[in-house]
Amino acid sequence: MSQYFLERFSKLTPYVPGEQPNDQPYIKLNTNESPFPPCPEIIRAVEAAADRLQLYPDPEGRELIRALSKRLNLPERRILLTNGSDEALNFAFMAYCDALHPVVFPDITYGFYPVFAELHHIPFSQIPLTSDFRVDPEDYCAAAGTVVLANPNAPTGRALSVEQIERIVQSKPERMVIIDEAYVDFGAKSVVGLVDKYRNLLVVQTFSKSRSLAGARLGFAVGQEALIADLNAIKYATNPYNVNRMTLAAGVAAVENDNWFRNHCTIICENREFLTGKLMMLGFSVIPSEANFVLARHDLLPGEALYLALKRRGILVRHFDAERIRDYIRISVGSRNQLEKLLQAIQVILEES
Ligand SMILES: Cc1ncc(COP(=O)(O)O)c(C=O)c1O
Repeated sequence: MSQYFLERFSKLTPYVPGEQPNDQPYIKLNTNESPFPPCPEIIRAVEAAADRLQLYPDPEGRELIRALSKRLNLPERRILLTNGSDEALNFAFMAYCDALHPVVFPDITYGFYPVFAELHHIPFSQIPLTSDFRVDPEDYCAAAGTVVLANPNAPTGRALSVEQIERIVQSKPERMVIIDEAYVDFGAKSVVGLVDKYRNLLVVQTFSKSRSLAGARLGFAVGQEALIADLNAIKYATNPYNVNRMTLAAGVAAVENDNWFRNHCTIICENREFLTGKLMMLGFSVIPSEANFVLARHDLLPGEALYLALKRRGILVRHFDAERIRDYIRISVGSRNQLEKLLQAIQVILEES
């Protein structure tokens, strides 16, 4: 760091994204991207938008908001578009958390939450998941402070029901609850429908996973008008043109061609069950997942050793050097072909170990 870097950031531990190496072609099962490309309508829409790159994009993203509002059956004023859902989460941490409103989230969850908390100097507490890696909703009904929960949780894949989340939201109407639904399209139930009823609920979703648009960086937040106004205040104080022209066009085409992504979600869910079954046959314990990844461990192979052995064979999975999940690897659910190659490689590694 330079001598000019402010002392208040000196202890910041930045988020470490999953690796994206380009030294050789890898089978990429490490960052929960979709194995499927975006539909042809999206490619055409992006090409058409690129023609007008000399112009700033619509800062409100009205066309996409309109499309999403129809799809989600929500008034347009309840939606905010963001540069990936990470930006929506960052805005929400800025808007709803500080020393007087500390933030609470599970001990095992999306690694960006503690980073946002540190960045904005927000005190945070982490509630341990149960021994079988579940979120116990009662812990969050009792907890003080802003609640942030990924549902399904990452990297476990376990999900809460709508009723369980509603109990948390209802338990203390004076505090905000932020539900991060990055993986909700793979089997869990969304709480977007509860936004009507609760003014302390903000729901965040992304186009990165189920909608095959990780490279476009598009997310959105849904909440009552007052909450969206809060987030807009932060957006217009940081980056009014936060979603670029090509991404807005991609988003509209994605929403208008919903079948494409719904079919892919069905395939991913089938592949997840295939992968889970095969891993169990190979002696793995697999946490039941409602996301597009599984967290799995094998008694004979420490997580890091398995991750490294797979990487040597050109397959990337994710290993977290964190307490409680050090023995596990997280595998993104890819295409059937990718998973078959992964399983073959694991079988060889097991035979050699
Ligand atoms: C739980 C969770 N939330 C949010 C994100 C951010 O996704 P994006 O910024 O690509 O929308 C991720 C990405 O991996 C995630 O795992």
